[in-house]
Amino acid sequence: MSGMVAYSPTLYRMFCAATGYGGTTQRVVADSAVVSSQTVTVEFDANVAPGLNWRFAPVDRAVTVHLGEQRLVYFNAKNLGEASEVAHATFNVTPQTSGIYFNKIQCFCFNEERLDGHQSVEMPVVFYVDPAFAKDPEMRGVSLITLSYTFFRSANPKDARDLSRFLADAPPDAAHGQMLFAERCSACHAVDRNMLGPKLGGVVGRRVGMIAGYNYSAALKNADFIWSTASLDRWLADPRAFIPGAKMPVRVLDAPSRKDLIAYLQKQSDGSEPKAAASRP
Ligand code: HEC
Repeated sequence: MSGMVAYSPTLYRMFCAATGYGGTTQRVVADSAVVSSQTVTVEFDANVAPGLNWRFAPVDRAVTVHLGEQRLVYFNAKNLGEASEVAHATFNVTPQTSGIYFNKIQCFCFNEERLDGHQSVEMPVVFYVDPAFAKDPEMRGVSLITLSYTFFRSANPKDARDLSRFLADAPPDAAHGQMLFAERCSACHAVDRNMLGPKLGGVVGRRVGMIAGYNYSAALKNADFIWSTASLDRWLADPRAFIPGAKMPVRVLDAPSRKDLIAYLQKQSDGSEPKAAASRP
């Protein structure tokens, strides 16, 4: 095992903050210009440390991705015991030096996580491999990256998140949606004014492409429907598949994140009420 890097969730955050990898800009850029023709295979490995009675396994054993391409994969976790347990995941990337090119957008590995007794969930991970990988002489000849997670029983179970949020019938979490909005939308959108993207307050129930003073693509100008939670879900999953010619370069691949984002947007008025702006972090 020597030669591997193990990041705790806290270290990972510090690492991201220090390097900018996995940061907002990186996440946004990832889905726009830079999808390369070069591919790499990412293999998944899942382990449970002694002392935690969970079963944990990747749903997909390995996937081949283009550099810069976002990919959604799932891991399955089941608490085999009676009692609810809190655990946290650490991860290793091999070869070690490829770790800096491996970016996670959605992961169960950012938090302490709780699973109720006998509960089983499929957890989404959204990641991409930075196209800069291709330019690093150290990465020459590397065609396989192994991503390995280990779940440990948590020493600090306070403030754990509930993995039941990934169950299909879980209620949406607007507060988490607000966090996601800050991370993944606010570079281009605000609820109360146009930025690079149109203002989004009051978008649920609004006609598509209707904000005055915003220069939409012809595709959005010519589209004709009212934004509903269902159409927003399709848009966020892949804007340009939903409305060909749309110019929004961002996708939210995992359904739980889309559900939370839409729940947050649903609560935002068109900006004329102070409540919408005041509730931003
Ligand atoms: C990199 C910039 C960028 C980011 C980040 C971004 N968007 Fe957009 N968004 C746009 C642009 C540009 C448009 C206008 C698209 C067009 O005219 O084709 C748009 C349009 C939209 C619309 C249509 C609004 C209308 O008036 O019809 C919605 C809804 C939307 N974005 C939601 C989101 C959400 C939610 C997020 C965060 C997950 C997000 N966007 C992230 C750039 C962005």
